[in-house]
Amino acid sequence: MGTTVTGSDASDRYEIDDVAFLGRTFAEYRRMLGLEAVELSGRRVLDCPGGACGFTAGARARGADAYAVDPVYGPPVEHVADRARRDLHRAVDALDEVEHLYVWDVYDDPADLASHRWSALGRFLADYADHGDRYLPAALPRLPFPDDTFDLVCSAHLLFLYADHFDHEFHVRALRELCRVARGEVRLFPLVDLATERYDGLDDLLLWLERAGHDPTVRPVDFEFQRGADECLVIDAATG
Ligand SMILES: C[S@@+](CC[C@H](N)C(=O)[O-])C[C@H]1O[C@@H](n2cnc3c(N)ncnc32)[C@H](O)[C@@H]1O
Repeated sequence: MGTTVTGSDASDRYEIDDVAFLGRTFAEYRRMLGLEAVELSGRRVLDCPGGACGFTAGARARGADAYAVDPVYGPPVEHVADRARRDLHRAVDALDEVEHLYVWDVYDDPADLASHRWSALGRFLADYADHGDRYLPAALPRLPFPDDTFDLVCSAHLLFLYADHFDHEFHVRALRELCRVARGEVRLFPLVDLATERYDGLDDLLLWLERAGHDPTVRPVDFEFQRGADECLVIDAATG
């Protein structure tokens, strides 16, 4: 922990070991990004960072043309699996010290949380092994796609959450990049950092997005695990 990434050439200098390579299930993504009523079939979808998630596999199973990006992708599945298992064990072990930062409602208890994470990892690894072309190694703030490629771009548990690692300029550049590759919506969750404090540059970002014509809205979601993390940010990338 402790590497702060600044805006210029951030992806080159960033030590990816500092950010846990974890993942959520498709059902968790739906709830935390408020996607329950959003049609995925026939849409081109990006998950960035994709982590060890079941979202891309789940979206494709529902008819989406889905891709994921993460700097950890690229090596053979056994290597990625080792990294994911190590980070998941660490995350579960570390939970003891910070249990008070969480609301035990979505998950019954730490064992239930761990079982969701292992389930997401299993789905991810099977899909990564079978459909590796869907999982692209890259890092914000630079994505390997032309402008206006995706109908929906999801970005969870990186921006805002790791505010101690990524400075504000990085957040601006990353958001601009997510909007560039989207022709529809960009959705982000959570809007708080690891200490459950609302990201303190959020108002500035909302103003910047508003001025750029992206009509940002902060929406309540039916999901709260980190205390106070019950909102997502929806950005209209079609405008601006
Ligand atoms: C906590 S995981 C979140 C994964 C997933 N989105 C989720 O909600 O479960 C954070 C991910 O960000 C990835 N990451 C780290 N730096 C990144 C960067 N500069 N651009 C894109 N992804 C990055 C890490 O490899 C890790 O998989």
